[in-house]
Amino acid sequence: MNSNIYANSIEFAVSNGRIQVKQYHQDLKLVGTGRSACVFRIKDTNKVIKVFPSQFTHIAQKEADIYKLLINSNYFPTIYETGENFLTMDYIEGNTLFMCLNKGIFISEKQINEVDNILNEVREVGLNPSDIHLRNIIVTPDNQIKMIDVARYKQKKHDTQWNDLKNAYYRFYLHPLFPKRLPECMLNFIAALYKRKLLFIRFLTGSKTPTSRYKRSKENRWG
Ligand SMILES: Nc1ncnc2c1ncn2[C@@H]1O[C@H](COP(=O)(O)OP(=O)(O)O)[C@@H](O)[C@H]1O
Ligand SMILES: [Mg+2]
Repeated sequence: MNSNIYANSIEFAVSNGRIQVKQYHQDLKLVGTGRSACVFRIKDTNKVIKVFPSQFTHIAQKEADIYKLLINSNYFPTIYETGENFLTMDYIEGNTLFMCLNKGIFISEKQINEVDNILNEVREVGLNPSDIHLRNIIVTPDNQIKMIDVARYKQKKHDTQWNDLKNAYYRFYLHPLFPKRLPECMLNFIAALYKRKLLFIRFLTGSKTPTSRYKRSKENRWG
């Protein structure tokens, strides 16, 4: 089946910055929705198609170009096809770190270090890994870390999300009394507070960055 047909079968509804899909081809199964696109697994394949609504189509080519720079890395899906409003790539089975927290699957220090190693590898090819948050990191069934959503890896500004998450991990998550399973509504609530850059969240995560940095990373988010 032609990927253009799949991409064009999708009917989006975007309101208040949230994307929803109203309709899509019967060969597709929705596996995730982000801030700029929806991702579907293609029936009887190990591939997904990431489709962007009209206001975000410019991201498709940009993201594909970055994935191509990472083609030699095992930590990223391989890209197969790009169109005006979509890209196709490997389906990555597993749980995002967001799902791990929601399901109570323990996130180990080794996994956190692995993400750090991957980000260093990304920097070595001249990219600036950004938008690194819980929903863009997948733990596979054989405990490998895979990264997705690379569209912002060429941005100039420094993104503090991953460092903030790491601070929260060591400061709170590893504490024996900290619950290892958190309801989705609570995770979304924390993400929303973080997004609004409330000072106390920065305080809680241990970051001592100046106020200007809150403004600079206004669009950052955790979840
Ligand atoms: N290659 C993939 N394999 C499996 N799931 C994926 C893949 N790419 C994305 N997803 C799922 O879809 C969600 C949204 O995709 P993402 O690329 O992060 O979109 P956005 O750029 O809008 O944030 C992810 O959080 C993840 O759950
Ligand atoms: Mg994403």
